[in-house]
Amino acid sequence: MSITVENKTCTYCGICADICPMGIIHSPTEAEIPFVADSQVEWCISCGQCSAFCPSGALKLQKDRDISPESAWKGIEFTQDLLVSYLKSRRSIRNFKSEPVSIETIEAMLDAARYAPSGGNGQQVQWLVIHDPEKVNKIADAVIEWMRTLAGGNHPMSRHVPNLIAGWDAGNDPICRNAPHLLIPHIPENNPVAEIDGIIALAHVDIAAPAFGVGTCWGGFVAMATKGSKKVCELFDLPAGRKPSYALMFGYPKYRPVYIPTRNKAVNIWQ
Ligand SMILES: Cc1cc2nc3c(=O)[nH]c(=O)nc-3n(C[C@H](O)[C@H](O)[C@H](O)COP(=O)(O)O)c2cc1C
Repeated sequence: MSITVENKTCTYCGICADICPMGIIHSPTEAEIPFVADSQVEWCISCGQCSAFCPSGALKLQKDRDISPESAWKGIEFTQDLLVSYLKSRRSIRNFKSEPVSIETIEAMLDAARYAPSGGNGQQVQWLVIHDPEKVNKIADAVIEWMRTLAGGNHPMSRHVPNLIAGWDAGNDPICRNAPHLLIPHIPENNPVAEIDGIIALAHVDIAAPAFGVGTCWGGFVAMATKGSKKVCELFDLPAGRKPSYALMFGYPKYRPVYIPTRNKAVNIWQ
């Protein structure tokens, strides 16, 4: 990937060179607009920062550029207050309506998550959407089956499983909370950077979901079972060379939070 800089519109501000994470854009001089040396083109990670921050729009990656953030916001001012309140209002949802979330809505949420950061702009995260509630239930059943093997053992979960199994046997679903859908980011098997990319992308879906009227709950039990249960992984049936990163239950919330619960104060070390 390389850049093109329009001679006439470039203001020679040098921001592109300043912000390039790979340091391959040469600062403009009086005689020369910013450029990437041919020998360094291969280092470009196509993150698009140079193009996104170019104040005059002179610099383009040889790739389409989306519209500016301001026009995407359609005149809404993202005040600090609004955004912080939104983040504080996000809650886990554990009771869902049976009404399904449409494929279009899910695709729109996943589309937003494409813009999550990823190590080296690797964009390695792909999605498994378990849309069929019966399959979600089958996965919960397989997680419980795995938990039955842990009871009385030394696994960190062993202490908790009797309660969860008892809940399941009584006809409840403490694993997937009877959510209609389950979302699994999946990543390449042998890419340590992608491990965190999957979690970050899922966090972006989690944060975006309330804007679509969708409620979410992180599926810690499901995620744990993917490390211990062959059956759960087989049910995911991911393409060869891919592994699940985490799990998120989602659907339309049955109840809505009325208050924001208290949280511990932030503990900060300043240096
Ligand atoms: C990594 C992770 C795993 C979680 N796993 C589960 C889970 O398996 N089941 C569940 O009901 N909630 C799960 N949660 C939700 C937490 O219990 C919840 O985030 C926490 O109690 C704070 O509540 P809030 O999300 O409403 O602020 C998980 C959350 C995280 C971040």
